[in-house]
Order: sequence, then structure tokens, then C-alpha cells
Amino acid sequence: MLCTVRPMAQTLAAEVADYPWYHTLELGDGVVTSGMFDHRPVLKHYPLPHDLSGLRCLDVGTMDGFWAFEMERRGAREVVAVDAPDPLALDWPASLRATAEKTLDETKEERFALAHRALGSSVRRVARSVYDIDPEQLGSFDVVFCGDLLVHLRDPVGALERIHSVCSGSAIITNPIERFGIRDRLPLARLDGVDEFGWWTTNLAGLVRMVRAGGFSKVDPSRPFKLPFASGGGWKGVRGVVRALP
Ligand SMILES: C[S@@+](CC[C@H](N)C(=O)[O-])C[C@H]1O[C@@H](n2cnc3c(N)ncnc32)[C@H](O)[C@@H]1O
Repeated sequence: MLCTVRPMAQTLAAEVADYPWYHTLELGDGVVTSGMFDHRPVLKHYPLPHDLSGLRCLDVGTMDGFWAFEMERRGAREVVAVDAPDPLALDWPASLRATAEKTLDETKEERFALAHRALGSSVRRVARSVYDIDPEQLGSFDVVFCGDLLVHLRDPVGALERIHSVCSGSAIITNPIERFGIRDRLPLARLDGVDEFGWWTTNLAGLVRMVRAGGFSKVDPSRPFKLPFASGGGWKGVRGVVRALP
């Protein structure tokens, strides 16, 4: 009898090909997801400690899990990854709620599970909105990472208050930012909420101010950098990053 057993890497590659990916993830055996964003070349811009040994870490808005798996790779004792459970219950602008393409959100749990399995990860994924983060249920964390989520929230300051409530060490908060020319020393924001799945896009001073407004006592910005779509295109994708202390 002819028995065709496909090598494991081939099987994994085939599973990976079934999904659109947000994160570029190296899953082993040469299998790499073709993500919308590739954070690997810009890792140095994030003030995330290289060694997280012994620390309890939280990734808020984990999507495919890149940052949760990265914290695990850096030696974290425990990593919890939170994401909103219901794609329809995200803070969609009213104009887009019914019509917006939701495939990325509908399959994020499956993608995370696939990557989790391939990496042999111990990260614990918790289906929960950032607005429902609660220290009584999740405990407190030495390091909290929250990447590119605030721009998608109607109430980013309320979300930051929840993040602050579980942060006992430091938080690294990133968000797309804009520049408003000579007024950039002031904390400024542009409101969308109609054309794009985005609410308040701030300048760097605005991101610092927002994180302070969420309850953090000390907020240090890093130098902004570009994170464009991995597939190219005109969008510059400038990111602001801050490290905040409770
Ligand atoms: C633009 S992606 C960013 C993914 C990842 N954090 C990063 O920095 O690459 C936004 C993520 O936040 C999640 N998200 C959106 N609204 C949320 C909410 N209310 N609570 C928790 N996560 C949410 C989305 O499901 C998605 O995984």
C-alpha cells in the first residue's frame, strides 16, 4: 500500500495558508506567516527589556500573538494575552459597523491557536475586552504591552485606566501617531470615527498625555519610527512608543 505522509512543516504551511495573517510569525521549520505587519526589523525601537526572566507579562490586544510570543521568547515566567472576544462588538464607527471587512477579526482566535501550537507556547489567551480588564481576575503584571490598540477605541483613556489597574511594573504602549507641524509640542489629536476604523490619532505629545490621563505617573516617549504595511504602499505608518510607570 502506498502511504503518503506529508512532512510536518508542509502540513503546518498548508494550515497557515488557510488564513490571512496580521503578524509575521516565525513558526519553525522555515514556516513564516505573511503578515500585514512585520515587526522583526523594528524590534529595537520598542523599549521592551531583552530579558524578562521571572516576570509576569500581559499583552493587550494580542491579535495573532506576536508580542505575547516575543515576551515568552524573552524568558517571561508567565504571559497572558487578552483580546476582545466578539468581532462585532469592537468599537466600530457606526458608519462601518455593518459593512466593514471582518475576516481578520473573525479568525484571530484560530490563528493564535495555530501559532500557539506550532511554537509549543504556554501563553494563556483570555478572551476579554480591554475595558473589562480587572486586577481581581487577572492579577497584576510586571510588564504590560499594548500595541496599536488605542487608535481603535472610542474610549482610549478608559482603556488605559484598566491597563493601569493591573500594571505593577511598567507598561509599553504603542500607537500610530501623526505630526501636526509647528504645533507638535502641544498634545493634539485628529478625530476620525467615520471613514476609517480609527478614532483619535494623536501626535507623540498627545500619546504621552493620553497615557498620563489613564493614571500613569511617569511616561517616557521613545523616538517614533515607521512601521508600514509589509506589502508596501504609500501609508507611512509612523508609530509612537512610550514606557510608562504606574
Ligand atoms: C491593530 S491590532 C494590534 C495587534 C498587536 N497588539 C500589535 O501591536 O501588533 C489591534 C488588536 O486589538 C484588538 N482589540 C480591538 N478592540 C479591543 C478591545 N476592546 N479589547 C481588547 N482588544 C481589542 C483587536 O482584536 C486586535 O487584536
